[in-house]
Amino acid sequence: MSAFSVSRVVVTGGAQGIGASIARRLSSEGLVVSILDVNDVGAKETAERIAAETGGEVFGFGCDVTDREQVGEVFAAAAEAMGGLDTYIGNAGITRDGMFHKLSEDDWDRVISVNLTGVFNGLRAAAPWLRTPGVPGRVVLVSSVVAKAGNLGQMNYIAAKAGVVGLVRSGALELARFDTTVNGVRPGFIETPMTAAMPEAAQAVMTANPLGRAGQPGDIAGAVAFLCSDDASFVTGHLLDVNGGMAL
Ligand SMILES: NC(=O)c1ccc[n+]([C@@H]2O[C@H](COP(=O)([O-])OP(=O)(O)OC[C@H]3O[C@@H](n4cnc5c(N)ncnc54)[C@H](O)[C@@H]3O)[C@@H](O)[C@H]2O)c1
Repeated sequence: MSAFSVSRVVVTGGAQGIGASIARRLSSEGLVVSILDVNDVGAKETAERIAAETGGEVFGFGCDVTDREQVGEVFAAAAEAMGGLDTYIGNAGITRDGMFHKLSEDDWDRVISVNLTGVFNGLRAAAPWLRTPGVPGRVVLVSSVVAKAGNLGQMNYIAAKAGVVGLVRSGALELARFDTTVNGVRPGFIETPMTAAMPEAAQAVMTANPLGRAGQPGDIAGAVAFLCSDDASFVTGHLLDVNGGMAL
């Protein structure tokens, strides 16, 4: 793995699953990490566990990404604790699945609010640091394979994840002059607490990819680490598919 010019990262939704794996990987690469999660206790416990494993500096903060004011305050607190901030991983997400004619107003609003507006809130809060001239920055936003392929019973989630693709493309253009790259990952089926809750039939459909296995959180963490590294310094506005070959 190449060197990292960036050194201080905020990871939202990092208490468990993919976010925790990204936090662990970036900590093991030498970055100072802040984990933000609506699960306050989980954020702090995961931060402590990762710090013990990697020997790095890892902070945990309670933060609901849908609360724009709180997001601003917690990003500022994280930047103060870390001595700066140059990297933002927008990962927090939820599902509330159902065929579109059965989705409640709340199912729609909540999923858009966490998975799209919440990702934007983090980007907005990180703006003062990501727009610092002469200081390289990195943004990696977590979309999904379903933003490309569609899926049954996930119209709210897919609309949000397709919206994240829009944030990547427009963010790349707006932040390029500050030497901040903005990329995304589109994970396929990854074994986490989120997918463990899916019905078995749905899990079987999502793991039927050419490589013939479910993804692991570390598969996404590796891709995110690449996009944050100096090897990816000329990559921006890109969506990296990490899905075992689904939806080529
Ligand atoms: N697991 C998969 O197969 C898969 C596939 C494609 C995309 N993704 C995306 O990857 C990301 C991580 O998914 P995961 O599988 O690790 O899920 P997960 O449910 O295991 O973890 C999600 C984390 O986000 C946190 N979170 C939820 N709402 C929040 C809020 N309002 N504010 C702050 N934190 C909040 C949760 O507390 C949890 O710690 C999500 O954006 C998800 O949509 C997952």
